[in-house]
Amino acid sequence: MRTLAFYAALLLLSGCGRPAYKPGTNTTTGAQGTGGAGNVTGGNGNNGGGGPQGGMGTTGGMGVGMGGMINTTGGQPPEQCMSFTPTRVSTMKPAKENAEAVAKVASMTLEQRIRLMYGYPDCSYDTTDQCFQQPPLTEAGIPRWMMSDGPRGVRSQNTFPTTAFPVSMARAASFDLVAEEEIGKIIAAEMLAVKWDLMLSPTINVLRHPAWGRAQETYGEDPVVLGEMGAAFVRGIQGAGIPACIKHFAANNTEDNRTTVSANMDMQTLRENYTRQFEIAVMKSDPACFMASYNKVNGTYAAENKLLLTDILRTEWKWHGLVLSDWGAVKSTVPSANAGMDLEMPNSMYFGALGSSVPAQVTGERVQEAAERNLNVRYTFGQMSDAYQNRAANMNFVDLPAHKDLALKVARQGMVLLRNTENILPFAAGASILMVGPAANEAHIGDRGSSEVHPKPANVVSPLAGMTAAATAAGATVTHAAELTDAVAQAAGKTAVVLVVSMAHKDEGEGFNEGGDRDNLGLAGPHPIDGWTTKPAMWITQLAAANPNLVVVLNVGAAVVEPTLDMAKGLLYSFYPGQAGGTALGELLFGTVNFSGKLPFTVANADSEYPAFGNGAASADYEYLHGYRKFDDGGVAPKHYFGAGLSYTTFTYANRRVACPTVSQNGLVIAEVDVTNSGTKEGTEIVQVYAGYPNTAVRRPKKELKAFTRVTLMPGETKTVQVTFPAKDLAYYAEAGGWTVEPVGHELLIGPNADPAQLTPAVPFTVN
Ligand code: BGC
Repeated sequence: MRTLAFYAALLLLSGCGRPAYKPGTNTTTGAQGTGGAGNVTGGNGNNGGGGPQGGMGTTGGMGVGMGGMINTTGGQPPEQCMSFTPTRVSTMKPAKENAEAVAKVASMTLEQRIRLMYGYPDCSYDTTDQCFQQPPLTEAGIPRWMMSDGPRGVRSQNTFPTTAFPVSMARAASFDLVAEEEIGKIIAAEMLAVKWDLMLSPTINVLRHPAWGRAQETYGEDPVVLGEMGAAFVRGIQGAGIPACIKHFAANNTEDNRTTVSANMDMQTLRENYTRQFEIAVMKSDPACFMASYNKVNGTYAAENKLLLTDILRTEWKWHGLVLSDWGAVKSTVPSANAGMDLEMPNSMYFGALGSSVPAQVTGERVQEAAERNLNVRYTFGQMSDAYQNRAANMNFVDLPAHKDLALKVARQGMVLLRNTENILPFAAGASILMVGPAANEAHIGDRGSSEVHPKPANVVSPLAGMTAAATAAGATVTHAAELTDAVAQAAGKTAVVLVVSMAHKDEGEGFNEGGDRDNLGLAGPHPIDGWTTKPAMWITQLAAANPNLVVVLNVGAAVVEPTLDMAKGLLYSFYPGQAGGTALGELLFGTVNFSGKLPFTVANADSEYPAFGNGAASADYEYLHGYRKFDDGGVAPKHYFGAGLSYTTFTYANRRVACPTVSQNGLVIAEVDVTNSGTKEGTEIVQVYAGYPNTAVRRPKKELKAFTRVTLMPGETKTVQVTFPAKDLAYYAEAGGWTVEPVGHELLIGPNADPAQLTPAVPFTVN
């Protein structure tokens, strides 16, 4: 039983930026034997505790529960190569084992239990939050249950401000699991403060095509990045006392036709690319809740899809939480209830009929089970207690330094520099910079759909304001031209011109609020960027002619495929960088902070290189390969590789190696590489470890990301980076037989991004 002091302490903890659990341990060793801060993914457990009580869960940054580097220097192969048991995070026990939930449901009538299976009957989206709650069931002693969206912060529907973090795509570019967990904790602290109970995040759907209107809400194209980042976010949220609802299960990858489309694919494609990230998140964070998506999968609505909601999620993954629907995604009563849908949101459209018109087809046991699962979540997180219910709201969190500092830190880490011809960046003292474009003096922080966040206006820094502050500190000047003719007239003679190209919610966003999928991937097409009377491609062409020292900042959600971008000497993705984005941009362009972000998706040369999008169709046939997997298969070099990103320093990789040339199917793959900062500035490199399958007997991608880590190096410094993952993660999904590891020779490809030329020499190893 928690006390008010417990919740006060949580808020205080977030204010101090201190985790309520142990963070992961180091993964690198320095030349002088010092450990470097960092984090490792790799599927072998978890990077620290989740759990509703803040101190629960397992620790061990290697995720192997061993609390540090595996010693590979003794001459003997580490025994983990032969035998290794991944640690699973466990927060939710089966509802039947939760005595409080079972007892409470036992005391309720059938009608009361059914009322736990839907939201607010006939809810209205007007000024109250009716459509984001289960109303109180006073006669049964069950309080209101308030839900909020929030991949980029707590969705403040009505009146109060919350902290606006960079969107998930920007955070994915940081590949920083520790920071992602910190964001989860702060979001949970803000939820507790405003007295809301269930966080409807994270989104971990695959970015199958960059035109997806909600691309910004997810973590990119790779299932391992999606699963690891999603798990980190959930650990943060749940470790700080708020249950999280991971979404949208599954294959929700378009927006315009999201409520009708059937995503059709074979089982190998579904399991390896569209549910794998959810499986990783279950194992490494145990989310209390899953949200079923609007779309169909192979012809059956996700919300009535027994394969997804019961066979995979519960029978195979042994997950014990609550399944709720996306808002209006339930389209039937009996098939949905019997497939495993526990809670219809936001109203009672279909489940309101339970117990009256269709009692015989949905059993009382099913209703009891759904009600118990609902209360299992609430009791596990202490939300039924008087102390929790009666805690005071405290709205004074948006100015807490920890909240503001984290928003700035992740904005710095999330921007990706892709071109820096003639070292046009960083700008130096004395530089005269012209900021141009209608978006330069507005902070575009993302969509206005369900992920919308309203930060405190005084905490929001536009690109122009951030650049001006950084220029002042550096002894440089910044001026601004909002119109193209003015910009061209003023460009000549300036040290450089910085064009901020920002999309708005009408260009890419959730469909219900003017948004939807992108009409094209470029900057010159038929759909004008909202607020731009002249297409951005025309700005680029005319500005580059007026002053060749052009830097373009892409304030967008995902890949832009646009030939005129080649005219820019400097090119970066800032994504929607949150309330502190302008400050981060100024610091990065003036070089007081170094770039470290890397692309969480592949940028094509032409739209046709991506899979067919299918946003207008009744069904979309999903190919096996997407993203870098598809480019690898076709032998096509993309415009920018997955994982690419420049720094103001350079890194070299040497001595790529594997600790054990032979690994058991139940063992651990231990990869090592020596990374040197070969430049002149301190920098952080994101080291990526891919597996290759040169001897496979089945259909597989050429390579797949298995693990990644961040390593910070001073100029001239070398560190040995060790990254591990279980050999089980090398499995493919066989239509008959399920996950199968091939007992053959494999290879590790270690390097700075998905470019095959930068991942050599390959490191062979055998799985037996
Ligand atoms: C979105 C969900 C969101 C829900 C509630 C839906 O339109 O697809 O992501 O959680 O609304 O706001």
